[in-house]
Amino acid sequence: MIELSSDIGSADKHKQFSSGFRESSSSSRKAVTDRTSGQIPVICAENLVKTFGIFHKVNSVNGISFQINSGEIVGLLGGNGAGKSTTFDMLSGLTRPTGGKISLFDSQTQAWIPITNVPLYRRALHGICYLPQKPSVFAGLTTRQNLLGIMEIMSSRDLKKSMEAYDPSLQTREDFCDSLLTLFDLYKRRDEKVSKLSGGEKRRLEIARSFIRKPRLILMDEPFAAVDIPGIDICGQMFRKVRDMGVSILIVDHRVDEILKLCDRAIYLENGIIHAEGKPWEIVRVPAVQRNLLLALTESLLKMFPEPEEKMNEKIQNENFHGENESRFFQTRPTSTSTTVRVEEI
Ligand SMILES: Nc1ncnc2c1ncn2[C@@H]1O[C@H](COP(=O)(O)OP(=O)(O)OP(=O)(O)O)[C@@H](O)[C@H]1O
Ligand SMILES: [Mg+2]
Repeated sequence: MIELSSDIGSADKHKQFSSGFRESSSSSRKAVTDRTSGQIPVICAENLVKTFGIFHKVNSVNGISFQINSGEIVGLLGGNGAGKSTTFDMLSGLTRPTGGKISLFDSQTQAWIPITNVPLYRRALHGICYLPQKPSVFAGLTTRQNLLGIMEIMSSRDLKKSMEAYDPSLQTREDFCDSLLTLFDLYKRRDEKVSKLSGGEKRRLEIARSFIRKPRLILMDEPFAAVDIPGIDICGQMFRKVRDMGVSILIVDHRVDEILKLCDRAIYLENGIIHAEGKPWEIVRVPAVQRNLLLALTESLLKMFPEPEEKMNEKIQNENFHGENESRFFQTRPTSTSTTVRVEEI
């Protein structure tokens, strides 16, 4: 088990983690890339286990491993009791794992930093931002004051660094604030009390606020709860914008269709293990996902996420070569030759 102090010590030794804003676009950076996707890793979970209870033990999470890369949106899916919230809490630092390891990648030193037992507030200093289900913005302040308030309590050195990473032409904190309000489509509502904002606007304000501290990974717990359909669309556009700036997002939500529309990759949990992992078009073809999550949505999602042309061609070739039996086999095992999907126990 890694000691809290040694975790922090090693993180501090390496000083500042690189900015999430520019990391993915920096061609000069000597990048260690993920073997499978060619992307820069951000966080890695290895063999995570969480057991609750002493006499009557509940294995909430049973040894899961995954990695999230820079600038990708990953959806964490699963039915009730699958272990989503527990996984999420371990990543954010709200819950200590019973076993396994969580590490953050420092792209400046190209080293993995263990953060397994680092609490939430210290993870935040290293760019892991946790957005709880209920937006935690200050209701009595205006939209603008919510952002300026955070800037005021930051040291001028940290704020300057953040502004430079975001946009080197920014001069004042007011400029930074206005620029974030514009990015998140809140400028028109800048002097409105937050209590008067809609659920979606509050969510956007919360993300804008997280941007002040250069996030690398935003963990979003049910971001679409209490957000209407047009609001979900606007939030989705924002998330993509954020992703395109090199920030990674991990989303847990019960709106499976909305998550699949948004994410680059999804991880499907069942009984505390990763049952399937892959791109949305692959995930919607996993029978357990169809059975347990999609139900009536299956047909429309299969149409929405057709198999890519090269997969179709591959499938036709397989059919010609191996005959009918092989093609039936392929339909139930989307792993086939894919590099990203992993399906177990179907
Ligand atoms: N504090 C706890 N004490 C005991 N058991 C727990 C605790 N938290 C979670 N569990 C159990 O762990 C399992 C996974 O729970 P978790 O909350 O992670 O599921 P989930 O995928 O988030 O489900 P949901 O979709 O219902 O929110 C469940 O069986 C749950 O009862
Ligand atoms: Mg949950």
